[in-house]
Amino acid sequence: MDCRLDGQVALVTGASSGIGTGVARGLAAAGAAVIVNYHSGREPAEALVAEIEGQGGRAVAVQADVSDPDAVAALFARGAEAMGAIDIVVANSGIQKDAPATELTVEDWRKVIDTNLTGQFLCAQAGIRQFLKQRDRKLSRALGKIIHMSSVHEVIPWAGHVNYAASKGGIALMMRTLAQEMAGQRIRINAIAPGAIATRINAENVAGEAGKRLLELIPYGRVGDVEDIANAAVWLASDMSDYVVGTTITVDGGMCLYPGFRDNG
Ligand code: BGC
Repeated sequence: MDCRLDGQVALVTGASSGIGTGVARGLAAAGAAVIVNYHSGREPAEALVAEIEGQGGRAVAVQADVSDPDAVAALFARGAEAMGAIDIVVANSGIQKDAPATELTVEDWRKVIDTNLTGQFLCAQAGIRQFLKQRDRKLSRALGKIIHMSSVHEVIPWAGHVNYAASKGGIALMMRTLAQEMAGQRIRINAIAPGAIATRINAENVAGEAGKRLLELIPYGRVGDVEDIANAAVWLASDMSDYVVGTTITVDGGMCLYPGFRDNG
């Protein structure tokens, strides 16, 4: 058995940039057809589709705001129609709107919760509904697989980012609850918690002086690449992880190991 996904269809939200693009590429390289969801990045989404097709794969770009229930329903309907089925959902879309707690507006609290937490719930729900309609699919031991993109901030408190940390903490228990609820239907639901990954969302944090301070938080001594996350996603989507249910795989170079305690405490 290996990490191949041939014949399976993966829907990846927020696939027009960052971790989403890397995960979509990884799943395509493992043989999956990919529904490339984007919110506003139409050009990079279409470029990714062309790239996957150029390598002999199948892909389609579909726009949707994942915080909108009607848009999510339309995304899954269009994706399933274009590709014939959906076997893997990577609920990845996420945003940050940082501010000190005393200054955070309720709009920016809501925007982050709506996209990061409600959006991931709506995509999991739509994915589960789709899997249950495909009971005769035999391409994988599981009927379907869902991967939630969490963060090390599902466990590490993050001053100045209370909306983001709350959304990721919510993902942790949402994922485990959905996994408990759906495991009896052979639907596997897990999460990945990335640490600092070199993408646009944290471009300012990984360069220059801030980059040096960031490395002090990473025992393994390097910032992660999107490929580090893609590799975990391909494994979680494949039958290699068939007995992995309701788990968060932390991919963070050791950021969650309290590195501040190496020489103190
Ligand atoms: C955030 C990044 C941050 C990393 C580690 C991620 O969830 O999106 O901005 O660098 O966590 O703190």
